[in-house]
Amino acid sequence: MSKYTVAVVGATGAVGREMIKVLEQRKFPVKTLVPLASNKKQRRTVRFKGKAIPVKPAEDKAFNGVDLSLFAGGGSASAEFAWEAVRRGSLVIDNSSTFRMRADVPLIVPEVNARHLRRHKGLIANPNCSTIQLCVALKPIYDKLGVERVVVSTYQSVSGIGLQGIEELETQIKDFVGKRKIKTSAFPAQILFNVVPQIDVFMKSGYTREEEKMIFETQKIFSDPALAISATCVRVPVFGAHSESVNVQTKRAFSIPTILKLYESQPGLKLMDQPAPAPGDEFRVAYPLAVDVQGTDDVFVGRIRKDPSQANGLDMWVVADNLRKGAALNAVQIAEFLM
Ligand SMILES: NC(=O)c1ccc[n+]([C@@H]2O[C@H](COP(=O)([O-])OP(=O)(O)OC[C@H]3O[C@@H](n4cnc5c(N)ncnc54)[C@H](OP(=O)(O)O)[C@@H]3O)[C@@H](O)[C@H]2O)c1
Repeated sequence: MSKYTVAVVGATGAVGREMIKVLEQRKFPVKTLVPLASNKKQRRTVRFKGKAIPVKPAEDKAFNGVDLSLFAGGGSASAEFAWEAVRRGSLVIDNSSTFRMRADVPLIVPEVNARHLRRHKGLIANPNCSTIQLCVALKPIYDKLGVERVVVSTYQSVSGIGLQGIEELETQIKDFVGKRKIKTSAFPAQILFNVVPQIDVFMKSGYTREEEKMIFETQKIFSDPALAISATCVRVPVFGAHSESVNVQTKRAFSIPTILKLYESQPGLKLMDQPAPAPGDEFRVAYPLAVDVQGTDDVFVGRIRKDPSQANGLDMWVVADNLRKGAALNAVQIAEFLM
């Protein structure tokens, strides 16, 4: 099997670290790992296959001889280096939102629209974390029953904005326990003990940028600009894994056993749906929870039920690890698919 020189841009960040872990866990054929980050003075290393590998500054020449570049260095690093890496012969898979809506850049969830990879010109975009898990959950329903409309409300973890989000929740917990004043900088409001209905900035439409990403990216992934979607994105004090309440109106009628059957055989999806508690065990958890899903690879679906308020209405609860399926794992799966 061929082996590849793989660069990870943003190797010191939340997604970049997870990418390195995923490459190792999945035994991706890495000949040389090239960890890149911003131009900070201090010497840093990342661990890969038991070795400490020095982190280098991202610059044009760092991409010479690189076969595959996984970008998780934020929008400005992608804008500056992603096409340059392509010009120097690398395949690029980009986690930022910079190129996602460009017609010449496929936006890929391998279980959903791998066929769009045929059109790539060297740069492939990874969708937004909350979009990826929604699309995996919608895919079998979309194919079998057609989808008229989707209403999604998210409960997104603090790691969705990277290491600074994790640090802010940790600091707020410590300050609360230490009876100190709670300070807020990474989120629009205190996140500890709170539920914040704003992720990213507000747009002219009244939706936030995160909500618009979910709407437009899902339409692009399904090649269906008429797909009706409304999204409300909410930050919650959870360290890892995003949860979503998803209400779907299908085009054709269905029964719940049909939906369960569809989900039993969908790649990348795990059904966790046991509506009735076991006798004498009324608090047994039979639905996906962020704390259990964190660190896993699948998109978990549960709480599947008919929505009685509309014809062909379906409700469900969808949870996935935002750093893995929502970012690092999806990017590596795209590379594996092309390999
Ligand atoms: N977190 C998620 O759940 C998630 C999900 C999907 C997509 N994404 C996207 O993935 C990207 C990374 O997010 P993250 O959550 O990992 O953020 P993060 O924890 O803040 O990490 C950012 C990384 O980017 C590096 N970086 C910053 N400026 C750079 C530059 N000019 N050149 C090269 N590297 C640079 C940082 O390096 P230093 O250590 O040198 O500062 C760090 O390694 C973002 O585009 C984000 O939107 C994140």
